[in-house]
Amino acid sequence: MRNILLASLWAATAAAQASTDLGAAAEIVKANGCYSCHSVSEKIVGPAFSSVADKYAGDKDAVATLAQSIQMGSKGKWGRAAMPAHSSLSAQELKLLASWVLSAKP
Ligand code: HEC
Repeated sequence: MRNILLASLWAATAAAQASTDLGAAAEIVKANGCYSCHSVSEKIVGPAFSSVADKYAGDKDAVATLAQSIQMGSKGKWGRAAMPAHSSLSAQELKLLASWVLSAKP
């Protein structure tokens, strides 16, 4: 009984942690001007984040791929416009942003 209680407590804590992290990601997106070229559900200069999530669904390397695209910049994958590099973001922020983009829903 005690173990079951502990397990569900742990699960609740983990879920709260994950949503806090995604909340932090949303703040980083705002603070870095990502929304001047992206929106969650519509193409602006760059693809909609929900389209990115669709394209990479089921790709186990997606977090690493997207973290690298955000950090180094990207061109030629989605159209003619290029994304500039974001070299001031930490590895942890990049990973968080990539996971957040992958969780985007239209
Ligand atoms: C100046 C405009 C601009 C800004 C600012 C910008 N992006 Fe982009 N983004 C683009 C364009 C254009 C593409 C498509 C690039 C391509 O075709 O390879 C893109 C592509 C992407 C992709 C898909 C990459 C891939 O490998 O498929 C992700 C994820 C992304 N952006 C996230 C972000 C995040 C997070 C930020 C903020 C830190 C950001 N972008 C800021 C223009 C921008």
